[in-house]
Amino acid sequence: MSTIQPHGGTLINRIAEGQERDDLVKLAEGLRKIRVNAWTISDIDCIGVGAFSPLTGFLKQDDYRSVLDSMRLADGTVWSIPVTLAVEDDVFANLAIGEKVALVGDTDGVVYAVLDVEQTYRVDLKEEAVKVYKTDDTEHPGVVKLLERPNGYVGGAITVLNRPKPERFQEYYFDPADTRKTFAEKGWRTIVGFQTRNPVHRAHEYIQKSAMEIVDGLFLNPLVGETKSDDVPADVRMRSYRVLLDNYYPKDRVHFGVYPAAMRYAGPREAIMHAMVRKNYGCTHFIVGRDHAGVGDYYGTYEAQEIFRNFTAEELGITPLFFEHSFFCTKCGNMASSKTCPHDKADHMHLSGTKVRALLRNGECPPPEFTRPEVAKVLIEGLAEKAVTAP
Ligand code: ADX
Repeated sequence: MSTIQPHGGTLINRIAEGQERDDLVKLAEGLRKIRVNAWTISDIDCIGVGAFSPLTGFLKQDDYRSVLDSMRLADGTVWSIPVTLAVEDDVFANLAIGEKVALVGDTDGVVYAVLDVEQTYRVDLKEEAVKVYKTDDTEHPGVVKLLERPNGYVGGAITVLNRPKPERFQEYYFDPADTRKTFAEKGWRTIVGFQTRNPVHRAHEYIQKSAMEIVDGLFLNPLVGETKSDDVPADVRMRSYRVLLDNYYPKDRVHFGVYPAAMRYAGPREAIMHAMVRKNYGCTHFIVGRDHAGVGDYYGTYEAQEIFRNFTAEELGITPLFFEHSFFCTKCGNMASSKTCPHDKADHMHLSGTKVRALLRNGECPPPEFTRPEVAKVLIEGLAEKAVTAP
């Protein structure tokens, strides 16, 4: 097995099996039902398989307050973003402490989990927004999702009865127990995790490969849960990662698997959460580049790196690898950052995300110094398909 300890010491497993599952499925038929959306279903799954270890369910009030105020659970364990269950007022008013409820998918009617109602509490959503996202601006994609929820939360442990079935790229779904086993089988002692919600451009490739020079393997772990509508859709991204790996990475040094959670866009606080989750998947190192998990201008370029200073190496238990803003320098003739390149900004190739998207949508490849041509081709084709099928 991989040598790194899961966050909190134990890899949580809340997936019911065999007789326990049969009994709970029967019991759930008679329970009060709470409808949950895709975001919450992905949270349930992440809790169930231990990606969110040490969480065993949705946060209770003392943990919630402690996470908001000090980025720790009430027992002191590092945890930076509340994972909570919000319920409508009519449900909130009627819930009894000690009751079990069934968490049911709002579009498919599937009973995903049974929740032990241990606590109900009201929260100030604006306060949560400001503490977690550093803003209550409703232009922020994480804040808008938060503020549209009711403010009654239910805390308690869950037991998972059904897992969401991935519609596509099933072969890239691995639970933390699987990846830990795989890393051990490969004989990797040091593994660097890479979070991404974007296609892998040359800058991403550069920082991944810089890290690969000093560790045994890379875990390319793109997030495929909910993202904002103008991000490149996950299925197109998955094809682009595949073609990049097939053409430019040594096969035996990369493990490629998805991270099913939703994107919060919480910048610094999400960087901490991303690192803890990758520790649970068995990574020993985690890449944090510029504006990690950021959006717009809400966070400073290196805030997601600076936030790690709040914690000791022991508390984190995974080593963050920080990378400066990287670019192709035409004078150096290679990828670089201000740490390695003495040249002027004018010599550095810079394309904004908006510009790259516009090029791809027009069927034009960005320069090969920015994006590998094989990747650009997949993105152009994928985005054209989406444009045709969009309503
Ligand atoms: S994220 O929201 O998932 O962080 P993205 O997929 O763009 O967004 O980034 C993945 C990782 O690569 C993050 O750690 C980010 O900081 C890093 N990164 C992206 N672009 C650059 C760049 N040009 N230079 C350095 N790091 C970068």
